[in-house]
Amino acid sequence: MLTKNTRARLAAYPIELKDIMSVEQAERSRGWLSHWDQLNPGPTPLRDLPKLAASLGVTQLSVKDESVRSPLGSFKALGAPIALVRLILRSYPERNFDPLALIEGKYLDLLKDFTVISATDGNHGRALASAARSFGCQCVIVLHANVSQEREAAIAAYGATIVRIAGNYDESVVEAARLAAANHWTVVSDTSYEGYQDIPRDVMQGYGAIAAEIMMQANVAQGEPCPYTHVFLQGGVGGLAAGIVSYFWECFGANRPKFIVVEPVQADCLYQSALLGRPANATGSVDSVMAGLACGETSPLAWRFLEDSVDVFMTISDDDAVTAMHQLAGKQTGDLPVVAGESGAAGLAGLAVLRANASLSEDSGLDATSRVLVINTEGATAPSVYQQLVGESHESVLARQSAWLAL
Ligand SMILES: Cc1ncc(COP(=O)(O)O)c(C=O)c1O
Repeated sequence: MLTKNTRARLAAYPIELKDIMSVEQAERSRGWLSHWDQLNPGPTPLRDLPKLAASLGVTQLSVKDESVRSPLGSFKALGAPIALVRLILRSYPERNFDPLALIEGKYLDLLKDFTVISATDGNHGRALASAARSFGCQCVIVLHANVSQEREAAIAAYGATIVRIAGNYDESVVEAARLAAANHWTVVSDTSYEGYQDIPRDVMQGYGAIAAEIMMQANVAQGEPCPYTHVFLQGGVGGLAAGIVSYFWECFGANRPKFIVVEPVQADCLYQSALLGRPANATGSVDSVMAGLACGETSPLAWRFLEDSVDVFMTISDDDAVTAMHQLAGKQTGDLPVVAGESGAAGLAGLAVLRANASLSEDSGLDATSRVLVINTEGATAPSVYQQLVGESHESVLARQSAWLAL
């Protein structure tokens, strides 16, 4: 399903949004992150997949590969550490902490009684647990019923205390807020709600590092046009999309690319928000193989960035995502193999769905001249699920990738 957003406009980046998220702040976040030893050094690769582009009938298909951002396996490694650094700086103004020393773990003893908590579908919690351990804080993670044991173990490995609830993601968000209030802990969530905006803003601002790297890797100098006509962004609560949109919108203003947000049909909160013109809830079961996108409630703060900038909101099926995982794994295409997890492949899945249908392509302005950017937001963050869905282990795909790169 697709809806064209009638509120999308081509205009300069609004000043009231720039006061919330800006290129300047994204660059600062990127500088801090470069001191965190849990991230692989340097930018993640920006790959061109020419054969897949040809088969989808577009001129260019670039994929920013966040699967190799860090051993955490997803782009979420950019959000939680930045939010945690800024939270600690705000919480202890009298201590004049140096943010770089903080990120390098120089204040472990001073922070051991500071406890943060969050609900998660997996990736944000893993990143928060890892950041908390690096900086010396305690971390509690609330998991909903559908988060796999495999994902739980990956979070627990970073020393976080796990609380499991019987309900869904949105109920885990409520439980995290309740536990925080009862124990004087601080919620570090990637989604906003009424009266809770600063921390999710900082999380989203961390994601801007992806866009900053793309500008550098695509050699875009200030004032030059955007190298892409379309940017596909998968949506959970809308934070990733807002972080990327904000950066590109500020850089390119009225000449920004078209933004297309892709969600699972069962977890269509952003699509519903577009239909209603306000932050809305999903209409489906919110249960999807795309675990990272299985969110039922739009982040109101993220929505402020998306409501006037995203041209098309669309939904895809779980099967569409699995097909895209196969395509990126590259066995059939002959392009560079890329390990893309269920949520990671969703942007490409959106492109494939639109290109398979002439009228959907027309609605989204896609044609043979289009130059498309997608972001592979995660690798095999649940390795056994990956193997089951792709029929090949992620290690084997990585081995094929290494062989391809060595050619
Ligand atoms: C791999 C992956 N991609 C995309 C998203 C969507 O991000 P957001 O919830 O900020 O929209 C998530 C969220 O957890 C994720 O884990």
